[in-house]
Amino acid sequence: MKQNWKPGNLLNPAPVVMLSCGNKGEKPNIITLAWVGTVCSEPPMLSVSIRKERFSHHMVKESGEFVVNLVPASLTKACDFCGVRSGRETDKFAAMGLTPEKAPNLQFAPQIAESPVSIECRVEQVLELGSHDMFIGRIVGVQTDEALLDEKGKLDLEKADLIAYSHGEYFGLGRKLGRFGFSVRKS
Ligand SMILES: Cc1cc2nc3c(=O)[nH]c(=O)nc-3n(C[C@H](O)[C@H](O)[C@H](O)COP(=O)(O)O)c2cc1C
Repeated sequence: MKQNWKPGNLLNPAPVVMLSCGNKGEKPNIITLAWVGTVCSEPPMLSVSIRKERFSHHMVKESGEFVVNLVPASLTKACDFCGVRSGRETDKFAAMGLTPEKAPNLQFAPQIAESPVSIECRVEQVLELGSHDMFIGRIVGVQTDEALLDEKGKLDLEKADLIAYSHGEYFGLGRKLGRFGFSVRKS
């Protein structure tokens, strides 16, 4: 038997990412986000939802740029820290020993050097939804650690050891269960 619950956000598991941002005359900042999604393949676009009261909000809004950095298990602590401390009073790059590195396709937002995959985005639209503003970002470049490429130059994302977020907790990805289309493939 299922219970009939009131509306709420139970879409799980969620991605968890470290968004890095910059703005003219300001130190770069990092905010951890789970309300994140892929929204279009061509042109490639993703969305991030940020509350207006977050310090990062004005940086993304004013600069019109951000970088979505994927999170390997080794950065779980830094990821959590960037989600509980504000750039208003803390330099999160320095506090977590992270390196802001120039994102080649952006002017203000740096990438996080320690993240294996950094997705450079320019803000295309802002939707004021309620608690959160949804920024739709056009992906203008992707920076990928060479260590993730196989001998043919193909991306092997399993090597990145990424984490996910589910119901307030961080998880490793666990065992592989199948490959896209395996259910209909002839053996
Ligand atoms: C796992 C996790 C996921 C989060 N997801 C979001 C999110 O999607 N949107 C948001 O506005 N805040 C989210 N937060 C909260 C912000 O990361 C947090 O308030 C942060 O301290 C804001 O930093 P800032 O003030 O430097 O921008 C999340 C926090 C954690 C720990």
